[in-house]
Amino acid sequence: MIIAVDGPTASGKGTIAKALAAHYGLPHLDTGLLYRAVGRQVATNGGNPDDAGDALAACGFADGLLDDPELRSEASGGLASRVSVHPAVRQALYERQRAFATQSGGAVLDGRDIGTVIAPEATAKLFVIASVGARAARRHAEMLSQGRDVALADIEADLAARDERDRNRSAAPLRPAPDAITLDTSDLGREAAIAAAIALVEQMRCLS
Ligand code: DC
Repeated sequence: MIIAVDGPTASGKGTIAKALAAHYGLPHLDTGLLYRAVGRQVATNGGNPDDAGDALAACGFADGLLDDPELRSEASGGLASRVSVHPAVRQALYERQRAFATQSGGAVLDGRDIGTVIAPEATAKLFVIASVGARAARRHAEMLSQGRDVALADIEADLAARDERDRNRSAAPLRPAPDAITLDTSDLGREAAIAAAIALVEQMRCLS
């Protein structure tokens, strides 16, 4: 069984994907980390993330970079969003994601284009959304718990800018697959969101 979990940043898709993987005993890939690694590698190379050649040259990052906690930072998320607009970068990361999705036994992948491009044949496709306000509040609380105090308004502006770029790029823009079910987590706590996701996957499994 392949489970595709797509959605904008801080929608709760990562938490949901991890929980689904644990529930069904499947391996999980956070595909955003691959784009974040390319973004970081461009910065390390002294390149320009908006330049397709510089971004492509950074796709050969060492696997060890995927364990770097710095990849979780807002700065890395912004760099990832910028390198992800280049079709050549998406192409370079495709095989790795496709191989993960099609491994025997199944997998859970979360990202922006799993249900549309990476695994259009997925058994279950969730498109996880939440209001900008709810997402910014979650990100803010997460940052405070890490001892980083960033203004809520700045987080909101950053999320909105990233949404705009992810939705409007021409290569694999963020949008739900026609057969995805949308889950709005704005008013759901962690456990309620996970329970709702499991119920939807069960529903889609029965229909497949
Ligand atoms: O999910 P995330 O916040 O870690 O993703 C960071 C950026 O990477 C996101 O703004 C767009 C890009 N991305 C993508 O284009 N396709 C994916 N499957 C995953 C992430």
